[in-house]
Amino acid sequence: MSIIAARKDSAAAAQVEEKKAAASAAAPEGTTTAQPASADRPATRGQVDITNVRKSFGATEVLKGVSLSVPPGGVAVIVGPSGSGKSTLLRTINHLEKVDGGYITIDGELVGYEVRGNKLHELREKDILKQRTHIGMVFQSFNLFPHLTALENVIEAPIVAQKRSKAEARKRGLELLDRVGLKDRADAYPRQLSGGQQQRVAIARALALDPKILLFDEPTSALDPELVNEVLDVIRELAKSGTTLIVVTHEMGFARDVADTVVFMDQGQIVESGTPQDIFANPREERTRSFFSKVIEPAFNI
Ligand SMILES: Nc1ncnc2c1ncn2[C@@H]1O[C@H](COP(=O)(O)OP(=O)(O)OP(=O)(O)O)[C@@H](O)[C@H]1O
Ligand SMILES: [Mg+2]
Repeated sequence: MSIIAARKDSAAAAQVEEKKAAASAAAPEGTTTAQPASADRPATRGQVDITNVRKSFGATEVLKGVSLSVPPGGVAVIVGPSGSGKSTLLRTINHLEKVDGGYITIDGELVGYEVRGNKLHELREKDILKQRTHIGMVFQSFNLFPHLTALENVIEAPIVAQKRSKAEARKRGLELLDRVGLKDRADAYPRQLSGGQQQRVAIARALALDPKILLFDEPTSALDPELVNEVLDVIRELAKSGTTLIVVTHEMGFARDVADTVVFMDQGQIVESGTPQDIFANPREERTRSFFSKVIEPAFNI
């Protein structure tokens, strides 16, 4: 079997096949389904389906069967206490973490695996990397290359991974820097930029491969408070653009304004999800209520 690992749960493989066959069928029971994208941002790609995903680190199970669907152009915001599995879930979506059970598809294509002979086989590294070009990810720490300018950071992947010409990549790179309000800082190095500016370059870089979906893991939590809004404003604009977004954040005001669906996670499970109004104003579960009573200021308006 060389470098390709086969997953034991052939049941999952069978389910994937069944799901393909019944593409129009309803989602399995227990799946959290995000609201459809609104009419002002029609989108045709970027459907994310997470089905019964499990993940353990050693003896600790940190994802205990998570199911979540986000439609093309949908904006799902994941909130929950520290250690509840939010980052781990995001990392499974681009196969930075392998899942131990369940599976994830993007536009119907399995992430990280292929089905052969009723078993899930992990993709080869080069196919995983290729698949990852469809999935942009922005981390808390901006992870820019310090020796490259803002523009060079943005155009590196299109040139290396997509073999675009330098001229074409530069043109597109400048458009993207313009989109995040940084066209005039294209030649600055990361050390010459504020944290908020660096994070906006990181967002432009994530957009450069024209991803189907964008994942954000606490994109503003390393920023000084006065720089948070400039980054959230860029994400707000993206939310209107039709790109599917899955955002982990502690910024509840942002979640309320931008999310189609707020997903509350605790202890490796989705406790509940719904519109911001449902989750903030009328949570069904005591765990949700208790969490928000600690993190939301009394003056927060739904
Ligand atoms: N690589 C790893 N090895 C071992 N344990 C891990 C690893 N990554 C995460 N964990 C554990 O998994 C659990 C979930 O972690 P995760 O980072 O997903 O939580 P989180 O909800 O993102 O928390 P936070 O809000 O603090 O970022 C934690 O108990 C964490 O210690
Ligand atoms: Mg985290």
